[in-house]
Amino acid sequence: MLVSIVVPTYGEAENLPYLIDRVAELAQARALRLEMIIVDDDSRDGAVAIVGSRPESWVRIVVRTEDRGLSGAVLEGLRRARGDVLVCMDADLSHPPEAVPAMLAKLDEGADFVIGSRYTPGGSTSHDWGFLRWLNSRLATLLARPLTHASDPMAGFFALRRSTFEAGRDFNPIGYKIGLELIVKCRCERVVEIPIHFEDRRFGVSKLTLKQQLLYLKHLRRLYAFKYGAWSQLVQFLVVGGTGTAANLLLLTALLAARTPLRLSVAIAIFGSMCFNFALYRRFSSSAARSSPWPGAFVHFVLASSAGALINYLATILTLGRFPGVPPQLAALVGIAAGAAVNFVASRYRAFKATHVRVQRKSG
Ligand code: GDD
Ligand code: MN
Repeated sequence: MLVSIVVPTYGEAENLPYLIDRVAELAQARALRLEMIIVDDDSRDGAVAIVGSRPESWVRIVVRTEDRGLSGAVLEGLRRARGDVLVCMDADLSHPPEAVPAMLAKLDEGADFVIGSRYTPGGSTSHDWGFLRWLNSRLATLLARPLTHASDPMAGFFALRRSTFEAGRDFNPIGYKIGLELIVKCRCERVVEIPIHFEDRRFGVSKLTLKQQLLYLKHLRRLYAFKYGAWSQLVQFLVVGGTGTAANLLLLTALLAARTPLRLSVAIAIFGSMCFNFALYRRFSSSAARSSPWPGAFVHFVLASSAGALINYLATILTLGRFPGVPPQLAALVGIAAGAAVNFVASRYRAFKATHVRVQRKSG
């Protein structure tokens, strides 16, 4: 059996000799047949020369020069791998190669995906994170809960059979969480964790930036859509609708407290929540949709939801007139429901036209 170890690198030249040494020792001790594919994103830090000077013929380096990124690099390595079993690990020795045999054993026992895990019982880390960093990591894991029950789904240390990888489809890697992407897109049922000690890197710095963290939210949205299809649309609708409603009611309450006239307050609150929803959509929509400049997109958005907004306003004012003494927030809720119903029907109609109505082109 051949084992392929894929190692993404960006500026890890200093770590490579230590990594290769340790993997070589392991291969000797456990009589493993392996190949190591280092996928470097054109770091130009001497990594190529280091790998070239090594005696181990089973190590090779692939240099990518187009679109940098951890997930894409890992996928490239996995596609090039020839092994029956694929392992992925970081180059900075945070992940102990010595755990690989135990991971292979779990695959042998029928696991689809094995994680070298920091959080499963027996696992540990040497990073002494502050409260906020810890909270951030825990929150990120919690958000992945509907996708997998693993305690450390963010890990970059994992193993799977090549057949599992080849059965995967629609890979769309963004950000850092390639393991989670594989679990979902390869439809891994039996995800097993073995405990590891996650060592802090000795050389170089982490490349995990805030931007990557934000990309994670977008990645999650795609993974939910893949796994839950139409249901994820509904959740999205509820999240956007729910936060928009909260924005509307908060604004309305604040305006009324500042003694703004009632009808004006209602109108401003509706417009405010529209702006809020627009910002939310734009934040999480695809980058293709965001390539248009925002003012034009905003006008488009306002026009598209103007009927709903108008109905919202009218229903709110009507309720207030019909039932004097009703709290304005309650009337606003009635308006929001009416507006949402109109928007919903309008969007179904547009979707219908987009997919079913073929306008005949005039000839000549
Ligand atoms: N080819 C390539 N391209 N490799 C990259 C890139 C890139 O754009 N960015 C990072 N890498 C490589 C690094 O060189 C390293 O070998 C590995 O990916 C992990 O990057 P680090 O910068 O060391 O990440 P980290 O230690 O902060 O994060 C690790 O732990 C996280 C959980 O806390 C990684 O294992 C993450 O995957 C994991 O989520
Ligand atoms: Mn690291």
